[in-house]
Amino acid sequence: APRACVIGWPVEHSRSPAIHGYWLRQYGIDGAYEKEAVPPEDFAAFVSDLSAHGYVGANVTLPHKEAALRAAASADAAAEAIGAANTLWLDANGALQASNTDAYGFMTNLYAGAPRWRETCDVAMVLGAGGAARAVLYGLIEAGVSRILLTNRTVAKAETLAREFGAPVEVLPWESKESALSACGLLVNTTSLGMTGQPPLDIMVEALPQSAVVTDIVYVPLETALLAAARRRGLAAIDGLGMLLHQAVPGFERWFGLRPEVTPDLRAHVVATL
Ligand code: ATR
Repeated sequence: APRACVIGWPVEHSRSPAIHGYWLRQYGIDGAYEKEAVPPEDFAAFVSDLSAHGYVGANVTLPHKEAALRAAASADAAAEAIGAANTLWLDANGALQASNTDAYGFMTNLYAGAPRWRETCDVAMVLGAGGAARAVLYGLIEAGVSRILLTNRTVAKAETLAREFGAPVEVLPWESKESALSACGLLVNTTSLGMTGQPPLDIMVEALPQSAVVTDIVYVPLETALLAAARRRGLAAIDGLGMLLHQAVPGFERWFGLRPEVTPDLRAHVVATL
């Protein structure tokens, strides 16, 4: 029976076993999905011999996503552009392949929550310049958004991303981000602000147009203050859990041979673990 795992350090917090375990049971597949706590110094050796550990593939979480890309024999365009991989599998020759499904997860969740978002989004604003922001930028550029205002507390990190991702990305000072909101059809929070235990994200969603969509990649709590404020204002508000659920789909299909569905029941099952 095929086995896959999530590799992290620490790995305890990962919700991937809840997602893949649910699908394995739901579809009656004879397979397993485990957690592997692997320290950074052991990561390359671990994934260079995945099959010796009994695995056909793996998800990779913090802090290994960049190392996962380096360890792979080849990677898809998304992983190369984002500079990190979250999904690994062995091909027919036993070579390690890498993909990044975070942008796919973010975009699929966005289309699911706001099917017509693209019609009212000429300009998007992305808050944050970490690993998650890289996946969001890649997804939005692939979707054809021609202007993306990127803003981050540490401006140098935003400037690095703007150089890497090119013309659609413009850096905006963190202090003046609100002045540009009236032009934005989409606002994405990729910072950790608003997460349980972190300071709140302070931004006036009232300045957005009525057609705007607000998404948060934070999912603990499920409804952040940002999303609550957006809903009060009557805007479409999309939480971060959907991205997590959707990013899991391509890996499951590779390892277990069946494309699983993201359903309300899966969502409820994972919400119960938060
Ligand atoms: P991820 O991989 O999830 O993107 P990360 O790389 O640690 O995580 O990025 C965290 C993001 O949250 C960064 O954009 C960070 O801003 P800095 O680059 O200035 O550190 C942002 N962030 C975290 N705490 C913040 C705070 N108190 N105020 C503003 N931004 C914050």
